[in-house]
Amino acid sequence: MEWCSRGRIVLRRGGLGLLHPAVLGVAVGVPGAASRHPQTAGSAPSHQPGAGVRLRWPPMKLLVTGGAGFIGSNFVRYWVDRHPDDTVVAYDALTYAGNPANLADLADRAILVEGDVCDPEAARRAVEAHDIDTIVNFAAESHNSLAILDPARFFRTNVLGTQTMLDVARVLELPRFHHISTCEVYGDLPLDTDEAFTEEHPYRPRTPYNASKAGADHAVRAYIETFGLPATITNCSNNYGPYQFPEKVIPLFTANALDDRPLPLYASTENRREWLHVLDHCRAIEAVLERGRIGETYHVGSGVEASIQEIADAVLEALGKPSSLKTIVPDRPGHDRRYLLDCSKIRRELGWEPTIGFAEGLAGTVAWYADNRDWWEPLRDRAPVVETAWSAAPAAG
Ligand SMILES: NC(=O)c1ccc[n+]([C@@H]2O[C@H](COP(=O)([O-])OP(=O)(O)OC[C@H]3O[C@@H](n4cnc5c(N)ncnc54)[C@H](O)[C@@H]3O)[C@@H](O)[C@H]2O)c1
Repeated sequence: MEWCSRGRIVLRRGGLGLLHPAVLGVAVGVPGAASRHPQTAGSAPSHQPGAGVRLRWPPMKLLVTGGAGFIGSNFVRYWVDRHPDDTVVAYDALTYAGNPANLADLADRAILVEGDVCDPEAARRAVEAHDIDTIVNFAAESHNSLAILDPARFFRTNVLGTQTMLDVARVLELPRFHHISTCEVYGDLPLDTDEAFTEEHPYRPRTPYNASKAGADHAVRAYIETFGLPATITNCSNNYGPYQFPEKVIPLFTANALDDRPLPLYASTENRREWLHVLDHCRAIEAVLERGRIGETYHVGSGVEASIQEIADAVLEALGKPSSLKTIVPDRPGHDRRYLLDCSKIRRELGWEPTIGFAEGLAGTVAWYADNRDWWEPLRDRAPVVETAWSAAPAAG
């Protein structure tokens, strides 16, 4: 695509250059607005409105790795809407899960650079070309099922890719690195417990995806401790929303239901996940970038759990489709039972809380897929895993 190139000028809105930095800071109440490092820890939690433009001085220049994926592209859109004077560069290898179409409506407001997080020279060039001050690291292989068939690519991208980006940030002395991680690094919880993972919980990953994400988190902490890299981590629960690749359960069920195809439910249909709307995840990352304490990890979740069975029922009901579309398939190996995050730290320290209820968010998401068949239909054939095909001993792929 024309705008998928290095060095494209970002079009900016507004005439901020005429305003004094102090005026901007006071006018919009952004902590640290007059600082070179506006994202460094603020002391007091501040109100986090759900919408509205927020301006700061000087503007930030973000490199969003994985910015053409599901959460990354939602984050790019969220950020340019909220911070129109900032520069946002999506840096993405455009794997099967990375899709320039996810950013097509942002062509005049963000930059897409095709590049691999495992390539230090390309990453460094992108950072230097755009005078980046903040890396937000979403890039990952993210599908648990694919990780069973091809674990090596997960360890390459998720561990070595993160370490490569950390090193770019270290060598270029960037003022901020933020890493996106998952609740899945902690292993799973029994179905019948009140326990929730805190930020101090030991890591006990059970699948190659989880282990690769755990390795990345350890790399971030090692760079914080050893090199003093100014970094933060967020571990988030399951996300849902628009632009999620139709291999993941909510878009998969929705797309299949729309076409009257079977919905493949893993045999352990009571297994549960904690669900957070992707925009609430973006708000949490914004809160950590603006007010989070350097070196800290913050959990991000809604506390709202739903089983695979409940998700299938809700999607079918929203679309007026029969429950006979539900089809039981074998569990994938290592299928975790349940994750739940204790998010009291981010609520207490940063004043973040989810704003989108699950019923409302799911209805909106199902409606988005129903309205955007042109987006997901071509992606179906790119999904590398057939979820109905698990056997006790999956073949290497
Ligand atoms: N989806 C969730 O529910 C969830 C929950 C918690 C955390 N996370 C984490 O959030 C991040 C984003 O997840 P997602 O669901 O948007 O995933 P996704 O698969 O939709 O997007 C991943 C993006 O990374 C890109 N990518 C892959 N390998 C790359 C490489 N070597 N170099 C550069 N780019 C590369 C892909 O092209 C894609 O655009 C991941 O780190 C994931 O572990 C996801």
